[in-house]
This record gives sequence, C-alpha cells and structure tokens, in this order.
Amino acid sequence: MKPTFATAPGKVILFGEHAVVYGRPAIAVPVTQVRALARVEPAARGAGLTFVAVNLERRYALAEARRDDPLAEIVRRVLVHLKRTRAPDAVVTLDSSIPIAGGMGSGAACSTAIARALSAYLNRGRPLDDDTINDLVYQVEKLHHGTPSGIDNTVIAYNRLVYFKRGELIQTFNVPAPFQLAVADTGIRSPTKIAVGDVRKAWEAEPARYERLFDSIGTLAHDARLALEEGAVDKLGWLMHTNHVLLRQIGVSCPELDALAEAAEAAGSAGAKLSGGGRGGNLIALVNAANVDLVKEALLRAGAKSVMVTMVGEGERG
Ligand code: MEV
Repeated sequence: MKPTFATAPGKVILFGEHAVVYGRPAIAVPVTQVRALARVEPAARGAGLTFVAVNLERRYALAEARRDDPLAEIVRRVLVHLKRTRAPDAVVTLDSSIPIAGGMGSGAACSTAIARALSAYLNRGRPLDDDTINDLVYQVEKLHHGTPSGIDNTVIAYNRLVYFKRGELIQTFNVPAPFQLAVADTGIRSPTKIAVGDVRKAWEAEPARYERLFDSIGTLAHDARLALEEGAVDKLGWLMHTNHVLLRQIGVSCPELDALAEAAEAAGSAGAKLSGGGRGGNLIALVNAANVDLVKEALLRAGAKSVMVTMVGEGERG
C-alpha cells in the first residue's frame, strides 16, 4: 500500500464560545498557520498498527493503547466505519504545531488528520467525505470534552468559516472585507473539558443568570455575522470587547488573559477577547496594518509566550 498524508488546521472562535454549548450561535474560523499532519505508511507483515506521536515523543502500538487514548479512538472508529475487522500493518505518524489544550482545536485537528490519512490509506487514496469525518471526530470529541457543542470538529473538518448552532445544518458565509487577528498564546494549558464542566455547574446553580449571559453572547454572534457580511470590520472590535466582558462574567477568563486583552486594546486594537475554552489558551485581538506591530509588542510585553497574525476572510467559501 502507498503512504498517505493528510493535514487539518487549527481554529479560533471569533464569537460565542461556551454559549454555543447551550444552543446559541457562534462563529469560528480555521487557522492554517498551525496544523496537524498525519502520515500512514506500511509496516512489516504482522506488525499491527503503531503510532508515532512526534510532539509527545512517544511510539506505541494500537494494541497496547489505553482505552481512552484519543489517537486509538479515532482509528477504531474509522476501522468500524469501513467495516474492517483488524487494523492494517502500518505506522501512523502524527506531528502537530497546534498547542495542546490551547483553545485552538488541537484534539479535533489531530483526529481529523488521522481519520483522513487512514481512510485514504485503506481506500486506495480516497479519504472519507467531510460529513463522515466530521461525525467520527465528533464522537471522539464527546469522549474527551464531556458536552462539546461540535463547533471545533465542524470548523476543522470542513476547513471553512462557520456560523454554528447546535443541532442545525452548518452555515458558512462570505467575509467581503478581510481582516487581521493577532493570536496570542498565554502559555497556560487549560483543558476545555474543565472549563466547560465548571460553566455547567455554575449554570446549574444560577440558571437564570447564565441563560441571560448566554443570550447576550448569542446576540453578539448574530450581530457579528451581519457586520462581517456587510464588510463592517469597524463594528467587530466593540463586539469582541463585549464578548470578552461577558466571558469574564461567566467565569472563564483569568488574570493573564485579561492582562493581554487590556494591553492589546491599549496598544490600539479595536477589541480583544479570549478564544476557546478560556482559563488560559489564546487571546485574539483585532489588528490592522497601522497597529499590528504595536499590538504584537504589547502582547509580548504583557506576557504572551508567542503571537501569530492570521487573516480572516481571504478565500472563505460561501
Ligand atoms: C471550545 O473550543 C469551545 C467551547 O464552546 C466548547 C464547545 O463548544 O464544545 C468552550
């Protein structure tokens, strides 16, 4: 069999994280500067399937993987879907530049890349279609994230900007005026499952307050879609700033994220917010050609471990 490769991007949530778990809309975009890369190549007859997880510097056999090992979970699902009773004799190598537990969808991207590369390997170079990949990756997300909304696997499996509402068909839309975001990494690794679980406990304790907060965030995501479709980038900053304030009230920010948001805005960004599960991970700040360098410097001075700049709106599929 011929070796196969597949990649999957990272993602940032522009608006609506956490509230999306409770049925409100959210907007997310792929970030192609970071990605997971999976390669599947033949191994000696009878060798079984072996994983090489480059970032974790680990090599282990599927047969010896823990039951909840995420790489093993996606492989098992692909095999069941393709009605294979045994794994191929192959080496599956995974290399990812997406920070783990950094709010950029690392888990969903690794699963997506593996599902594509392995299904192509088993199917004469033809991977499973995006809908099936999305579904299989969501099954694995559910094992590891408790109650995921499905937004991470959706934006990553389809590799396109999404306006996502749980249980509804995915929607995408055009962004006629591209804009830049600075993505600053706090360096704090914070598993989404914990933040999502804490929000659930808080919602159970104070349902009316949390429903109001989720409604406000949902309205921001809706308004942001209209602004993006109109090309009214000038309206986004305020919406992002307000979304961050609401995420603080929900209890998923942290002093490091707040310091980055303040520093970015003081340096000229029209608005900044945490992105993803929060409590660490990444902050996104709206920037433009005039302030991008100042905002980057300010973010690094305020403690960001790294800052990348990404463009949203170029080449989005409508
Ligand atoms: C994580 O990227 C986004 C959250 O809203 C969780 C989810 O939607 O599953 C925090």
